[in-house]
Amino acid sequence: MSSEMLKNILEQPEIAQRCLDMDLSLLESLKNPDSFQLLACGSSYHAALVAQFWFEHLTGKLTMVFDAANMVDRQIRQEKNNLLILLSQSGTTADIFKAVESISPAQKSQTLGITNRSNTPLHKFCTQTIQTPAGEELAVAATKSFTSQLILLLKLGLSINSVKDSFIESLSEQISDTIESCKTSIIATNILSKNRLIILGDGINYPIALEGSLKMKETTYISSEGSSLGTFMHGPIAIIEPGFPVIAIVKKGFSKNAETLKKLERLKAYGAYLVGVSSETHDIFDQVLQVPETNDLLAPIINVIPLQLLAHEIAKQRGLDIDRPRNLTKSIDQ
Ligand code: M6R
Repeated sequence: MSSEMLKNILEQPEIAQRCLDMDLSLLESLKNPDSFQLLACGSSYHAALVAQFWFEHLTGKLTMVFDAANMVDRQIRQEKNNLLILLSQSGTTADIFKAVESISPAQKSQTLGITNRSNTPLHKFCTQTIQTPAGEELAVAATKSFTSQLILLLKLGLSINSVKDSFIESLSEQISDTIESCKTSIIATNILSKNRLIILGDGINYPIALEGSLKMKETTYISSEGSSLGTFMHGPIAIIEPGFPVIAIVKKGFSKNAETLKKLERLKAYGAYLVGVSSETHDIFDQVLQVPETNDLLAPIINVIPLQLLAHEIAKQRGLDIDRPRNLTKSIDQ
């Protein structure tokens, strides 16, 4: 029987197209901000981290990201002419509302909520709201709601800077091609009996390494850590032993990047079972989760798909309850 999670993953090409077709002209009423603050938890936080790269790259403006679940000893700074974006697929996550309790009325005056539901507490709090067109997501693990958030955030970044966005027109097709080309079964079988794994991604792919790790923990119960490749060399590499699964999300053209290759070679030398999320095959990899070659800005949206599929396949082969993992609920409202 097919799981809801798999259904949600397979719906993503169609939902991506819905996101692309969405009219975001309501955003014209937002004053052109001098800075952005994004606040979110879990997968939505990872989407915010990707948006930080997009906004800074596309607008050149300061973009701050807050993990609303970790605001102890921290406050959201008061910034003039700032756009505060609250991201939450459920629109009900209690940590978000706790985090904004202390913000001033001035800070509240320009607030954008992005959520996958209608009529939520997020709508009451925010001055503007966009609903992601993902439809109801029944599986606990966020997949289609996550990619919808990403696409709308990218559109937002592009529209603020009036950047021509024709390169995103083929996104839906690229997600389809990724689903088609990704063969996860053998890799899942090889990882099945392991209790730990590492997912590596540099730059804009770093939040995707975190998101892939979250999917892995939630659905397979494998203790998975996301890191940048560079950071992993500064100590964590000590945990690598023969057969240790490492998934490396690499940028297109990585094989011409001597620094990246040198780091991957070190992992191999210590015995890592190395899986690439890559548009190129390369001898360094034991296996590849093949993705189409894409524009660098679209890469995070594409690269998360194989990680969702792999997490799903491992959970399936482990015989787990994929849609309702232990200890979890769809949203944390208290
Ligand atoms: O509804 P929200 O987006 O506010 O939820 C935030 C997190 O609780 C949520 O993303 C959680 O991490 C998911 N189970 C991820 O798959």
